[in-house]
Amino acid sequence: MILHKEKNWWKDAAVYQIYPKSFYDSNGDGYGDIEGIRQKLPYIKSLGVDVIWVCPFFKSPQADNGYDVADYFKVDPIFGGDMNDLRNLIDDIHAMDMKFVLDMVANHTSDEHEWFQKALAGDEKYMNYYYFRDPVNGKAPCNWASVFGGGAWEYVPHLNKYYLHTFHKKQPDLNWENKEVVDEVISIMKHWAEYGVDGFRLDAINYLYKEPDFPDVEPMPGSEFGFGTEHYANKPKVNEHFNRLNREVFSPYNMMTVAEVAYINGDTAREYCGLHKPEIDMLYLFELLNFDQDGYDKFAPLPFDVKAFKEAIFTWQEEMKDCGHLALFFSNHDQARSVSRFGNDSDEYRDLSAKMHGNTMYMLKGTPYIYQGEELGMTSLDYTAVEDFHDVEVPFMWQEKVIEGGESEEKWINLFNTRSRDGGRSPMQWDSTANGGFSKVTPWQKTNGNYTKINVALQDKDETSPLNFYRHLLRVRKTLKSVINGTVTPFDTDSDATVCYSRDYEDEQVISINNFKDYNVQVVLPAGDFRVLLTNYGDVAEISGTVTLRPYEAITAIRK
Ligand code: GLC
Repeated sequence: MILHKEKNWWKDAAVYQIYPKSFYDSNGDGYGDIEGIRQKLPYIKSLGVDVIWVCPFFKSPQADNGYDVADYFKVDPIFGGDMNDLRNLIDDIHAMDMKFVLDMVANHTSDEHEWFQKALAGDEKYMNYYYFRDPVNGKAPCNWASVFGGGAWEYVPHLNKYYLHTFHKKQPDLNWENKEVVDEVISIMKHWAEYGVDGFRLDAINYLYKEPDFPDVEPMPGSEFGFGTEHYANKPKVNEHFNRLNREVFSPYNMMTVAEVAYINGDTAREYCGLHKPEIDMLYLFELLNFDQDGYDKFAPLPFDVKAFKEAIFTWQEEMKDCGHLALFFSNHDQARSVSRFGNDSDEYRDLSAKMHGNTMYMLKGTPYIYQGEELGMTSLDYTAVEDFHDVEVPFMWQEKVIEGGESEEKWINLFNTRSRDGGRSPMQWDSTANGGFSKVTPWQKTNGNYTKINVALQDKDETSPLNFYRHLLRVRKTLKSVINGTVTPFDTDSDATVCYSRDYEDEQVISINNFKDYNVQVVLPAGDFRVLLTNYGDVAEISGTVTLRPYEAITAIRK
């Protein structure tokens, strides 16, 4: 049965990303759940989004909060556990004329997945589903680092073999060189396509192919391990897999596909997602947000440099200009909150800078992705103890830097509050009641203490709130053909304060001008008089010539 036939239905859509564990707890166990999402659908619809992407909710030991899947066909008990909840959620999403995107984790499974359990029992068929290798000189086959710290190989004494886990040791990598593995993944995808999901977000999908000789790499300073990504990220075989997935699942079911990719350049990006390439509809690039840190090390922050940000976004707009499509995002479940990171979370400027971020990012070419709470300007965390954090990365860093390295606890708690993945995972702030209205009991992760001043209930009734700005923005965006289809031309490029660009299509010109600083700056506009469509100060109707932008001011305007 082919459920969705409208070609390219996703082209002018906006996506809302949900981290289910932290969205809304409907059954009072401290975890957000599937039914909780369903109960909040009117809110999601009110934002003006078209697609809902829900992070993994499958049965999982939760070593990586669900990105370690133990059963691709069952909902985990913490998310309600009931398959009827999922049926109702997807049916209601469709009834409200929205679409549902499933987060498909296929680079690895949980070590508690039946396949891996059989592999551990010595079943050769299933050992071949993963990368099991003999020790080399009594050690791991190579010195690749795991993304979450330590090495990427785990020793299994009773088999006298190592297995590969580019992420956590509870996330063994699947061996995509084994055709049976690809067949299994395809049948899982087909199952969900038949069930009625409208698209897949493809997790860590550019890591599918590993060079089989597993060469050693240059270690990182002070470590025996090194990131061997040159040996397993974006290898040509990834495209071959995309071709097959497309032929058998994506195209027949007309699904929206968004590939999470890292360590990528323009050529490879176009290989994955070009004009004449139906496999992958859009790319979700890590490269867009890495500019304020040292390479891929999020705990080595660099001061936020507006010029570096502009270079990242405008380079990628240019790379993909005639083909392909980008996901546009400022935050997600793997990133600290953007208003604190790239804006100003003081009471004076928080709302202005939250709105300014939307105005900056979502008038670009691509698909807006709004991450739960971003529309409210939810901030960095205010936790005080290492026990308040839950992400797999935290214990590794704490051990290495504080316990063994002697660095200050305060420094690292602060880094975890402002940079760790937990930063984006505190419970959604619904109202001013206990736990921000997220749950009737103590939530699995602490609610940010500022929930009494930043929450949905307050912002819903305030016409000038970030929430209502986002609602307005998404509606305005849809009406602008230049924003959906037009060219992107940056201006005021030398400024280290503003992000300004023009979108042009046929006779329509729209400009987005944004001040990232807490002082006034002047911007010379392109020729013509412009009518204001969006303003975060709310008091400007027309602009032309030279404009003074106030702190964190943002305007979108159309040429008259
Ligand atoms: C992706 C997910 C992240 C997860 C990782 C491993 O990067 O966004 O949350 O930890 O893949 O599945």
